[in-house]
Amino acid sequence: MQLHTKKLIFIGPMGSGKSSLARRASAKYGGDVFDTDREFVRRYGPINDFFAAHGEAEFRKIEEKLLIEAAESSAAFVSTGGGAVKSKRGMYALRASGDVVYLTAPIDVLEARIMRSDRPLKNKLADVMKERAPLYEKYADYVIDTSVDSVAELEAAVKSKRKNRYDVVLCDSDDTLLDFQKARSHSIHRAAEILKLPMSGDDVDEAYKKVVCAVWKRLERGEITKEEMDVERVKMLGELLGLQLDVDEFNRAYIGEMEKTRFVREGAVEFLDSLRKRDLKVYIITNSFTRLAEKRLIPLRKHVDGEFVSEKIGYYKPDKRYFDEVLKAIGASDRSRVVIFGDGETSDIMGGANSGIDTCLYAPKGGGVTAADYIAHDYSAFLDIV
Ligand code: S3P
Repeated sequence: MQLHTKKLIFIGPMGSGKSSLARRASAKYGGDVFDTDREFVRRYGPINDFFAAHGEAEFRKIEEKLLIEAAESSAAFVSTGGGAVKSKRGMYALRASGDVVYLTAPIDVLEARIMRSDRPLKNKLADVMKERAPLYEKYADYVIDTSVDSVAELEAAVKSKRKNRYDVVLCDSDDTLLDFQKARSHSIHRAAEILKLPMSGDDVDEAYKKVVCAVWKRLERGEITKEEMDVERVKMLGELLGLQLDVDEFNRAYIGEMEKTRFVREGAVEFLDSLRKRDLKVYIITNSFTRLAEKRLIPLRKHVDGEFVSEKIGYYKPDKRYFDEVLKAIGASDRSRVVIFGDGETSDIMGGANSGIDTCLYAPKGGGVTAADYIAHDYSAFLDIV
């Protein structure tokens, strides 16, 4: 019988029984154990000796790598070292891969357990706890007392549904909930038809994609205004295709077609409904323009708690002022309870970094280097994170 559908990650101070609970739970329920300290010792020798020779900072660097390895492993139980919570990267990788259990016991019980061991920090337990207790609490999906029967405590804990890690999801729309690539391609070809322009095929898509990416990046960096972008976009496209395009005429046709598009990504509506069923508040954050958002968000409107359109606010993602306005409007005073979900590295992810908000990159096609706290390759991975 399986104990839990997801990986269980044990955190807590020295002597809280992380390794021993992992072993006992695995013996009873099956599933592998990834013990980061044991793995450290296997590869680098005793931790005490390593601390003495290389210092704590070196140890933490390797520990972080092991935490990420544990997150990527297929182990059912992960036992971490007491200082694992000092690594944000390691802990975020782990919590994306499973549920985190904080093991505690009264300090005298912990001290008695570690007294005869040769841990480098064993005489500093009280100080260490003062520093780390808030971190243990922050990461804990479940808390169990290990001074009695920890397997029974664990069994009881994981029977209850874990609480949400966040209260608010700020969700990008284009290419996160709506299929923007499809809408763009559809609209550009329709505009060409309407204006009887000699352009068709994949070349147009490619050319326009290049243009749009370039001008959007400039808007995100605050180098041009929305109005300038509208002109720039058409000029660049004309140059690339060797055509004389009338800016106003082209924009009228293109925007007119774009606002009619309703291409919702498969599973997006169900995804929003699942988030809200879990009592999360969900708001759309979009750099789309007021006129387009008005119409294009229609299919999503019933499934979210609200929407924030950059043009109306006056600032664009990733500007911190955009996010300040959003948080003020929804009354979210605790930023640590807010998470941004979106596909845009330079808008959504950078916006989160600028504003002190956690981020999850939506990367259905894989995704490379990112500054995001999490990566989700599909909607269900994000549901596991929040
Ligand atoms: C440490 C705890 C130890 C081990 C290392 C550092 C700490 O793990 O990783 O000695 O910083 O609290 P245990 O929690 O298993 O003792």
